Amino acid sequence: MDWNLSTIVVGLDGSEGSDSAAAIGASMAKHWNAKLLLVTVVRTPEGWWGIGGAPPTPEALSAALVEGQQKILDDAEASLDLEGVTYETVAELGDPVSRLLAVVEINEADLLVIGRRGAGLAERVVLGSTADRLTHLASCPVLVVP
Ligand SMILES: Nc1ncnc2c1ncn2[C@@H]1O[C@H](COP(=O)(O)OP(=O)(O)O)[C@@H](O)[C@H]1O
Ligand SMILES: [Mg+2]
Repeated sequence: MDWNLSTIVVGLDGSEGSDSAAAIGASMAKHWNAKLLLVTVVRTPEGWWGIGGAPPTPEALSAALVEGQQKILDDAEASLDLEGVTYETVAELGDPVSRLLAVVEINEADLLVIGRRGAGLAERVVLGSTADRLTHLASCPVLVVP
C-alpha cells in the first residue's frame, strides 16, 4: 500500500481542541505539500428537517449561527501559518458527524484531524461525542489531537 498524504480535512468548532487540531493539520499540510480543508459545521436547529422536508437555507438560519461559523473560519485563517499551503475553508450545515464524513469522502481525503474535545458544554474527561463517532465511522485515518 502506498499511502500518500494529498488531502487533509480538519474539523473546526471554535474550541481549544480544534485550534490544536488545526495547527497540526496546517503543519502537516505544509510538510507534505497536501491540500488543507478547514471545515466547520453548524448544526441545524432541532426539528428543522421535519418542516415540510425542505432543506435549510443559510438565510433561514439565525444570523448569529452563520456569523459564528464564519468567525471560526476567519479566526483559523488569521491564526494559522498557511503560507505556501493550498487550503480551502468550508462552511457546512447539518449534523457535524455526517457532514464531516461527507467532506472526507467527496474529497477523497487521506487524513481527518480533529480535537479530542470540542465546544460542548459537558466537561468531558473522555473523547467528545463527535470525535468518538468520527473515529469509528471515518473512511480514512483519523488523528485525534489532545
Ligand atoms: N460542528 C463541528 N464542525 C467541525 N468540527 C467539529 C464540530 N464539532 C466537533 N468538531 C471536531 O471534533 C472535535 C471534538 O469535538 P466533540 O467531539 O464535539 O467534543 P465535545 O463533546 O467536547 O463538544 C473538535 O475539536 C473538532 O475538531
Ligand atoms: Mg461538540
